[in-house]
Amino acid sequence: MELFIDSANVEVIKKLVDVCPLKGVTTNPSIISRQNNRSFFSVLEEIQKVIGSQRVLMVQVIASTYEGMIKDAQRIVKELGKEVFIKVPATLTGIKVIKTLTSEYYNVTATAIYSTFQGIVSLNAGAQYAAVYYNRIENLGFSAEEVITSISKISDKKSKIIGASFKNINQVNKAYLSGAESCTLPPEILEQGLCSLNVEDAVEGFKKDWNKVYGDKTISSL
Ligand code: E4P
Repeated sequence: MELFIDSANVEVIKKLVDVCPLKGVTTNPSIISRQNNRSFFSVLEEIQKVIGSQRVLMVQVIASTYEGMIKDAQRIVKELGKEVFIKVPATLTGIKVIKTLTSEYYNVTATAIYSTFQGIVSLNAGAQYAAVYYNRIENLGFSAEEVITSISKISDKKSKIIGASFKNINQVNKAYLSGAESCTLPPEILEQGLCSLNVEDAVEGFKKDWNKVYGDKTISSL
């Protein structure tokens, strides 16, 4: 099971990388645009420094033509290194790009997957990850669980499904249970998942019981 953070906020990533067993960081053009007009590559280089070379960084192309997407991918790799995963939307043109990039040994994530068919074709084209847009699928009135389950059934397991586009932790749980090997979470959803009021109440209860007997002492000071 892998866990990614869907963010380009370096401070937030810095905080979470120390806390969680993160596989890496995913970004998209919207996420990067939220970083106060900072230079595209300097934000990504900073993220790389924070997460280290053992973790994965995913960066999406922006061009919409075949040639444009290939050039975007080449530039991303030139600036950030060949271990970066290039995110390519699973459109008709995108699938052709995925085929070319994977045949040239680029790491590729097919993204913007709303249907089982898109997922299957992306994996067949050689993508190592297929990013299924959970909440956006649900907003259209379809079952994201069904999309993930179907891709997972057909997949030869050489590639991974990465659940994306989450708006609550229940969606994340369902994505993993449906067969996603990986999920990418906005930081606020990750924090929501670990900081519920019930958990805080439980921890507070333990502390109160302890304090009644042992006062302010901690275990290490006994
Ligand atoms: C990640 O790969 C996706 O780009 C992202 O999760 C999309 O999320 P959104 O639907 O909240 O924009």
